[in-house]
Amino acid sequence: MAESRSEKASNDTALRFYRDVLGLERLHYGIWNDDDELTFEALKEAQERYENFLLDSIPEGSTRILDVGCGTGEMCVNLQKRGYEVEGLSPDRNQKRYFAEKLKVPFHHYRFEEFEPEAGKYDCIIMSESCQYIPVDRVFENAALALKPGGHLMVCDYFVVDHDAGILSKSGHCRETFLKTAEEKGYQIVEQRDITREAAKTLDMGKLIADRILMAADMFTERFREKHSVCFKFVKWLGRKKIKKMEDQLPLLDSKRFSEVKRYEFYLFEKA
Ligand SMILES: C[S@@+](CC[C@H](N)C(=O)[O-])C[C@H]1O[C@@H](n2cnc3c(N)ncnc32)[C@H](O)[C@@H]1O
Repeated sequence: MAESRSEKASNDTALRFYRDVLGLERLHYGIWNDDDELTFEALKEAQERYENFLLDSIPEGSTRILDVGCGTGEMCVNLQKRGYEVEGLSPDRNQKRYFAEKLKVPFHHYRFEEFEPEAGKYDCIIMSESCQYIPVDRVFENAALALKPGGHLMVCDYFVVDHDAGILSKSGHCRETFLKTAEEKGYQIVEQRDITREAAKTLDMGKLIADRILMAADMFTERFREKHSVCFKFVKWLGRKKIKKMEDQLPLLDSKRFSEVKRYEFYLFEKA
């Protein structure tokens, strides 16, 4: 079922951590209610709400769907349950394995920008938080090849609106460039929704998880630190670059700053 041309299969450690350590099958933000508590259950429900919103937004009459950056294949399972003919695509070799455990449908082991689709095959292409990894012009060019005339491209992702916010400005496409490219490549926006506020709470949950992991690390190393303080200082010195990198990344879990620098948006485009 799987075909592959990726010379260098990728292996996303962060995404493996969410799935294998935290037990999350979905690898995207959630749509939270204002009164949701920060619990794993609420996180899973928020992610399910996000996924159901995407599935409910698939235009009527669509049959064949390509899920680009399909993660562990969870959305493809639910697309299939709703009766769609579904195919998944991801460059990640672990995700290829998880997908094969869940589904017996085509899986394309490619980066989307390298994928050579059968022309006009799909009614709808879904990019659930995967668009940001694909060069923006290739998103629209390759989707245009793969979609039937009048087919739809669904993108749900975060975009950068403030380009001077350091590390926070580094992930996500520039919103202005994204929309300009869509227009230039002949796409029309059929539906749009800003979910920044509802999605940002996912970061508060991420921060809570990070704090707990740090607390556990602190507890487990307490005896060692007390008994072998010189040795501990040396180990810390050895890991100083990794520690610095982690500290530098902490602003990425600041939901307030996220909402100032980025917009998490849903777009449904139609290709003329
Ligand atoms: C944040 S995860 C989202 C996964 C899934 N769509 C979901 O919503 O749970 C990003 C996904 O994009 C995939 N990806 C990364 N680079 C890609 C590329 N160049 N082309 C296609 N998919 C890519 C990753 O392997 C992963 O499956």
